[in-house]
Order: sequence, then C-alpha cells, then structure tokens
Amino acid sequence: MPKPFDAAITRFFEDEAPQGIRDLIEEGGKKDILAEGYPYDKRMDRDTYEAELDALQIELVKCQSWVHGTGARIAVVFEGRDAAGKGGTIKRFRENLNPRIAHTVALSKPTETEAGQWYFQRYVQHLPTAGTMTLFDRSWYNRAVVEHVFGFCTPEQRETFFGQLPAFEQMLVDEGITFVKLWLNVGRAEQLRRFLAREDDPLKQWKLSMIDVKGLAKWDTYTDAISETFARSHTGFAPWTVVRSDDKRRARLNAIRSVLAQVDYAGRDDAVLKIDAKIAGGPELWLA
Ligand code: ADP
Ligand code: AMP
Ligand code: MLT
Repeated sequence: MPKPFDAAITRFFEDEAPQGIRDLIEEGGKKDILAEGYPYDKRMDRDTYEAELDALQIELVKCQSWVHGTGARIAVVFEGRDAAGKGGTIKRFRENLNPRIAHTVALSKPTETEAGQWYFQRYVQHLPTAGTMTLFDRSWYNRAVVEHVFGFCTPEQRETFFGQLPAFEQMLVDEGITFVKLWLNVGRAEQLRRFLAREDDPLKQWKLSMIDVKGLAKWDTYTDAISETFARSHTGFAPWTVVRSDDKRRARLNAIRSVLAQVDYAGRDDAVLKIDAKIAGGPELWLA
C-alpha cells in the first residue's frame, strides 16, 4: 500500500529527526508513554478508561438536557499541535449527544472571500445559539500559531489579531456564553509516533496533510508561537486549560471534565468530575 506524500514521515524519521526523538521511538518501542517527565509510566488501562468515560458520558447527556432546557450556550475551542488528539477528543464528547445540539466546527483554510473579511468573522457565524454547544476543532488561534509558522499571515495581521483578541473573547463571555479553551499538549516523540502510525494505516492516512509533513521540521518555531500565544491570551475571563495528551485516554477524560466543571447543570455529579491536576491545568503544565 502506498504511503501518502511519498513516505515523507518515514523519511523524516529515518533521516532528519533529532537523535533523541528517534531513540525514544526506537528503544521506547512498545513503551506506552514516550514523553519525558510525563507523570505516569503507563497508559491508563482500558477498563478504568471505559468505566470513567461511561460515567462522563452520562454527565455530558445531563449537561446537554440542561443546555437544551435552559437555552444556555457553550463554546469550546480545541487547540493543539498536529496529532495532539483534537479530533479524537471531540469524537468522545459527541458520542452520545444530539448532533442538533452539539455541533463541531472544523473550518478549512479561508476562501478568498473569507480572507478579505474581518479575521474573526467566519468563526462568529458558528458561535452557539440558545440551547446549543459548539466544539471548535481548531479556531481563530490558527492566526496565532499555524498561520504564523507557515507565513500564511503577515506579522501585522497577527499583531492586529492579538490586539483584538481580548476584547473579542471578553464579548463572548459578557454575552453569557460559557467559553472554554483547551490546549491539548503532545510531546515530540509521541507526535511523530502518531504520524508514523497514520502513514501506515489506510483508515488514518486522510488525517495527514502537507502541513503535518512540512511542520515536522518546524517543531521549535511552533514552540515559540505557542509560548507567545499563552502569554498573550491566557486571561482571567478566558483562561487556557492545558491537557497533557501523550496518553490519549487520560487526556480525553480530563478534557471532558474540564468542560463539564465549568457548567452548572442540574444533577451534576462532582465526584465524577474530579480533574487529575497532573493531566489538566493552567499553562504551567505546558512547560512541565
Ligand atoms: P488539520 O491539522 O486540521 O487536519 P491541516 O494540517 O491541513 O489540517 O492544516 C492545519 C490548519 O492550517 C488548518 O486549520 C488549515 O485550515 C490551516 N491552513 C492550511 N493552509 C492554510 C493557508 N494557506 N492559509 C491559512 N490557513 C491554512
Ligand atoms: P493508534 O491511535 O491506536 O493508532 O496508535 C497510534 C500510536 O499511538 C501507536 O504507536 C500507539 O502505540 C500509540 N497509542 C495507542 N494508544 C495510545 C494511548 N492511549 N495514548 C497514547 N498513545 C497511544
Ligand atoms: C488531532 O489529532 O490533533 C487532530 O485530529 C488534527 C490533526 O491531525 O492534527
């Protein structure tokens, strides 16, 4: 079976990846978690994961009825590097929800018309109406990170973005929208391992893009852009929640908890919502 992009991921792994990362993947082999400094040695086992996820699915459904019944609005931004697990986490959020109530918005690159608009404009039309929630799979933060790393925007456009951002997010919050920003944080070795797995798996190859391939060599540029993004957009009214996502299971559970904990829905079972502070917390977790 042909590998996409002429096996670019494998070639990067063999020829260009930093030795330390290659060692982690090669020697790490079947090791569960490759990230140095990750707070657990092993992935959460499947039984624990499924039991906890089932309990959280019930909470999500309770939250949905509350949203529907009260006309509340929830917007969640899912951000993170390529292969951080945004799509998989959103899938678990929506698994048992009504697609008329819980919407995913995954916009592609701006059209010519959109490129001529106010930058936030195309996202605004997807903000939730009463009784619904919107899950943004990537968001306006593209301008802060990927557009900057690839030069898809000018430095002036990015400065304008950062200048307008606090007022924009403040308006969402003042509107009464429950607004949550999740940053899924994946380490470099795990990211590369996931890319390699995607390159080999016919069901996952579609997830690979030219951006992923070219981004392989831009890890440090991304790091700087992300660091600056936290410094300029982690505000009291719209804080970031960082979720360590090298173990997808712990990441998904704690991402769901981080959102539910911010919604005061009827019948909330706080015991189920206890966040693992080693997995989800403020931007200081990103530096860990
Ligand atoms: P994803 O990781 O979401 O599957 P890609 O890796 O293809 O998608 O692209 C990453 C992000 O960069 C996407 O949000 C995409 O819309 C954006 N992007 C890609 N090309 C451009 C471009 N020319 N201008 C602006 N944004 C772009
Ligand atoms: P998969 O997403 O199952 O195709 O796995 C892709 C890569 O991620 C494989 O190399 C697995 O070793 C690794 N992996 C699988 N499950 C997990 C998990 N729960 N957390 C982190 N990595 C995983
Ligand atoms: C992810 O896994 O983080 C997202 O689904 C998008 C990506 O492929 O980068």
